[in-house]
Amino acid sequence: MDDLKSKYLGQIADAADEAALETIRVAAVGKKGEVSLKMRELGKMTPEERQVAGPALNALKDEINSALAAKKVALGDAALDERLRTEWLDVTLPGRPRRQGTVHPVSQVTEELTAIFAEMGFSVAEGPRIDTDWYNFDALNIPGHHPARAEMDTFYMHRAAGDNRPPHVLRTHTSPVQIRSMEKMGAPLRIICPGGVYRADYDQTHTPMFHQVEGLAVDKDISMANLKWVLEEFFAAFFEIDGIKTRFRASHFPFTEPSAEVDIQCSWEGGQLKIGEGDGWLEVLGSGMVHPKVLAAGGIDPEQWQGFAFGMGIDRIAMLKYGIPDLRAFFDSDLRWLRHYGFAGLDVPTLHGGLSR
Ligand code: DAH
Repeated sequence: MDDLKSKYLGQIADAADEAALETIRVAAVGKKGEVSLKMRELGKMTPEERQVAGPALNALKDEINSALAAKKVALGDAALDERLRTEWLDVTLPGRPRRQGTVHPVSQVTEELTAIFAEMGFSVAEGPRIDTDWYNFDALNIPGHHPARAEMDTFYMHRAAGDNRPPHVLRTHTSPVQIRSMEKMGAPLRIICPGGVYRADYDQTHTPMFHQVEGLAVDKDISMANLKWVLEEFFAAFFEIDGIKTRFRASHFPFTEPSAEVDIQCSWEGGQLKIGEGDGWLEVLGSGMVHPKVLAAGGIDPEQWQGFAFGMGIDRIAMLKYGIPDLRAFFDSDLRWLRHYGFAGLDVPTLHGGLSR
């Protein structure tokens, strides 16, 4: 019995894993294990022998079972220690931002103005940046000989000799989306269209690609008063200045009648531009009542419907709101500029959550 004891306790101590432990258990105390077979022999013993051997065998069996149980726990602990060692993770480390990128001011301002106009019931429409000269000019009541065509410094797409398709241009403004939206949605409608536009021009306040947002509302009883209210609401929300003053100046655009250019109040004191105070004015957009010919070009009956429209420079109002002096830097992809003027990726502008922080 002493031999059995030292044999099995030794094997248990040396067992490398749970599978080895199970083999030992079967060999020792399993149904046909060595200790179990010995216990069967008790029946053949004299009562005196049995009185000594019985308790001793039981004790041996208990000892082996508890050694097995203890080793099992120890092996489990060792396995856990090993996992903890290899899968080590310091949960007290401070968070590290994985991305260094920021949201470009043009994207930020586009989000801001979309949130404001959405609140007033405008949805976002889109159109192609390469468009036909019909959508970009003719449909907007700018015929071939009109000076506005020349003034816009248009980029024309190359055409092979003999190609008779209508000429394509890089759109010079977002106004062609007015026509496309009227064709697609009919009346009534209320849309804004933010997007890139192109003109051959380059200096501190002009880049060959820039951004505009077009607005268009068509309904039965729309007037200049609605236009004025919408724009004043917009400027107050956008510049975050209640009661910011606007000035509507009579102007001329081929696609609106009457037409107005809109200025916002500003001061230039000490050479510093401040929006919403002082008695200076700064032009920010063109607008007016949609010309009947433009409604008709969009497939809408001008006898039944009327509308207002406006077009505004997104980069321009971004420069004004965030005090960014040079337009050209917007499109230089200079990382230092982007880090300085960029916005955090998770600060999505909403009217109630705050537009800019
Ligand atoms: N398309 C004009 C431009 O790029 C801006 C504009 C003026 C748009 C008046 C309009 C408008 O919708 O009514 O200069």
